[in-house]
Amino acid sequence: MKLIKKCFRNFTLMKQLLFAILLITSIAFISFSFKADKEIKYTKITLGKKLFSEKILSKDSSVSCASCHNPKFAFADTLALSIGINGNETSRNTPSVLNMKNRPYFYYDGRAATLAQQSLMPIAHKFEMGLPIAEAVDRLNKNLLYKNAFLQVYKETPSSKNLGSSFEAYEKTLETVNSRYDDWANDKIKFTAAEERGRKLFIGEKAKCFDCHFGDDFTGDQFKNIGLFNGNFLTDSGRIFITKKETDLGKFKVPGLRNIGATAPYMHNGMFATLEEVLRFYNNPKGFFPHQINIDSSLNKPLNLTVKEQADIIVFLKTLTDKEYVKK
Ligand code: HEC
Ligand code: HEC
Repeated sequence: MKLIKKCFRNFTLMKQLLFAILLITSIAFISFSFKADKEIKYTKITLGKKLFSEKILSKDSSVSCASCHNPKFAFADTLALSIGINGNETSRNTPSVLNMKNRPYFYYDGRAATLAQQSLMPIAHKFEMGLPIAEAVDRLNKNLLYKNAFLQVYKETPSSKNLGSSFEAYEKTLETVNSRYDDWANDKIKFTAAEERGRKLFIGEKAKCFDCHFGDDFTGDQFKNIGLFNGNFLTDSGRIFITKKETDLGKFKVPGLRNIGATAPYMHNGMFATLEEVLRFYNNPKGFFPHQINIDSSLNKPLNLTVKEQADIIVFLKTLTDKEYVKK
């Protein structure tokens, strides 16, 4: 009898103990998760990354920056023209936003001077995200998560200025330097025979690509007319729209060529589906389309590249793709 009583007492004690342990762990868990939520430490960069795929920055909450600048496709997309809100097509092909850090201006016509200034333009653009900036800022202020995140990072509530700053900080981290080309430049590997032939052609007198596509990111950041304006079916007049200077008619920003193997289709209007088509065009730009206006004098004569030479240049171009975006 005594033994039974003792056992019973022990049992209630155990039950009490178990209950206490359960209570303590659940309190600890609740307070921990509350704290974790409140204390996610944002930086300009991680906040910018979050905003980059934030759909509430578009009028009907259907489109984010990442819808067109898709990280899966090297921050471009696969369409000639992208789709914004209400199924609207963009007026130009979406370029990759990788390797923007050292660019002195943005867009094919160079109309934005900084990444911060640029980032507000697609939000307000009626075909892209269609949301007036004041409304975008208002939405962020009404969203507790964003309001707190901006307070944490900028010590102030969301504004157009800190919104742009955050996008800029994030985009400046999107540099790619891990390609076969970089390995070659750092003496880590040797190029294959075709890659080396392509490289020599690319920088040489015959193909002349390097005249315009030079520097670390294969752009001299100049505006050039390669013959894709004729005022007829090629109607985008490019840089002149901003400067109003006659000499800028049909000129476009020379795009960098890093990751070019991953960002088809090509050119400001996405008119070439493959690099083969691009090379066929460059081989004889003058005459590829009728009535080209103001074409660069260096492209006046055919390059006379053989099909094999064109293929070699493409093999070289593909070494510029960061390993993250090389198709496996
Ligand atoms: C609906 C598709 C679409 C959306 C959404 C979009 N973009 Fe773009 N983006 C484009 C197109 C098209 C261009 C080129 C337009 C031009 O040159 O006139 C471009 C150009 C850019 C450029 C300049 C690239 C260069 O080479 O100069 C940057 C940077 C950029 N976008 C960042 C952003 C950011 C940040 C967002 C979100 C706030 C965003 N984009 C949303 C389609 C889009
Ligand atoms: C006179 C300057 C110039 C020369 C020479 C030149 N390019 Fe270009 N390249 C440009 C410009 C400008 C564009 C953008 C034109 C447009 O979008 O309308 C461009 C676009 C491209 C594109 C498409 C980029 C994209 O993101 O859509 C590729 C690929 C390219 N060039 C490769 C080459 C190769 C290969 C050569 C040599 C055979 C070459 N370029 C020679 C100025 C030049």
